[in-house]
Amino acid sequence: MSAPRVLVFAGSARRASLNKALSRVAAESARKAGLEVTWVDLRDFPIPLYDGDLEAEQGIPEHARRLRQLLDEHQGLIVVSPEYNGFITPLIKNTLDWISRPDGDIDGLASFRNKIALVMSASPGAFGGIRSLALIRQLLSQLGVTVLPEQLSVPRAHQAFNENGELQDDKLASRLDTMTQRLTQVLRHWP
Ligand SMILES: Cc1cc2nc3c(=O)[nH]c(=O)nc-3n(C[C@H](O)[C@H](O)[C@H](O)COP(=O)(O)O)c2cc1C
Repeated sequence: MSAPRVLVFAGSARRASLNKALSRVAAESARKAGLEVTWVDLRDFPIPLYDGDLEAEQGIPEHARRLRQLLDEHQGLIVVSPEYNGFITPLIKNTLDWISRPDGDIDGLASFRNKIALVMSASPGAFGGIRSLALIRQLLSQLGVTVLPEQLSVPRAHQAFNENGELQDDKLASRLDTMTQRLTQVLRHWP
């Protein structure tokens, strides 16, 4: 039986993004848990802000189309969501909005349906961006994704990683491993 595939990304394009750092750790944990992992950096997929006129005139941007195709090749998702003003980032919302659009006779929402996701967040603040998780959970659910109840927030994230990019707190690292093991277990029996 081939390993289930999971697509991992963070909702920040920033080079030194703490959420990207967490997404890398999550990707490694998912590999250890037996998943085949594709890690992507949204910086490599620059997409204009959604504009219905732009869509009507030029269609779906190439990078949004590529991301949708990637999504089609995966059964699982790990989304690491930064928190801006208690909310998800415009980057994550814009990216998911474009992907969800119909493209000719392709139904964008079909790429999300029947996917299983884990959500996590990181922030330099004391709450680890946890407020963004309810919102990313709601957005993914709206798109048809089943989001597992387990979630992880990394507070004081600017101090959370060692020089190898690993989580310094063993409890957080172990929670993350339990979550990716759970994702593997669910994906192996899905749908
Ligand atoms: C516009 C804006 C609003 C922010 N609001 C919050 C917030 O509500 N809660 C929080 O914990 N951090 C907040 N932050 C700080 C971010 O968590 C911090 O910049 C973080 O490093 C961004 O994620 P990244 O490192 O993955 O790019 C905000 C940052 C920006 C730019």
